[in-house]
Amino acid sequence: MIQETIVTTQNSFGATHIAPMGIHTNGEELIILPFRPSTTLENILASQTAVINYTDDVRIFAGCLTERRDWPLQPAEKISGQVINGALAHCEVELMHIKEDPIRPKLYCKTVHTVNHAPFKGFNRAQYSVLEAAILISRLDRLPLEKIESEIAYLRIGLEKTAGDREFEAWSWLMAVIENHKKSLSA
Ligand SMILES: Cc1cc2nc3c(=O)[nH]c(=O)nc-3n(C[C@H](O)[C@H](O)[C@H](O)COP(=O)(O)O)c2cc1C
Repeated sequence: MIQETIVTTQNSFGATHIAPMGIHTNGEELIILPFRPSTTLENILASQTAVINYTDDVRIFAGCLTERRDWPLQPAEKISGQVINGALAHCEVELMHIKEDPIRPKLYCKTVHTVNHAPFKGFNRAQYSVLEAAILISRLDRLPLEKIESEIAYLRIGLEKTAGDREFEAWSWLMAVIENHKKSLSA
């Protein structure tokens, strides 16, 4: 199973990096799969640790893909790292071993500490729409414009029926990127 999370990592100077990542789970094992080149990858190799944040605030997913990476943080409890404020839960993990790959290495991690901060309040279709649109944007240069437009039109249906303020805000950031992309194609 793949869970869409926010991974926070630190470089050797203690600066925190925030990135959405799909974490592969297999029982207790968590596998992080960063595409090279990746700051997340470099930081985990340097520190041997990461924090996996579980959040329903989709603005963080959309924000990280639209140059808005400055989200409030608080210190992790058992490792040197930072947790996203407002995460529903987080896991503090240590790197166990790596399956090397020139494109997308697999970082096998073990959980050393888990904290639940707030209850899960159910699925929301607008949050799904924002996540899918964020993934489209992370692949903008590799996808034909027609595919992007048709997928956005479909995702907009769930968004408009079920979004709250956070989801509309996140969606607006992503749509601005698509509009700029379209302009750059027609220039
Ligand atoms: C929902 C979602 C899941 C993502 N999962 C991954 C992933 O598993 N691996 C990856 O390299 N990038 C993933 N991305 C894209 C990264 O977040 C983005 O490219 C980021 O800048 C990663 O590079 P960095 O480690 O240098 O920050 C995902 C993006 C979204 C919106």
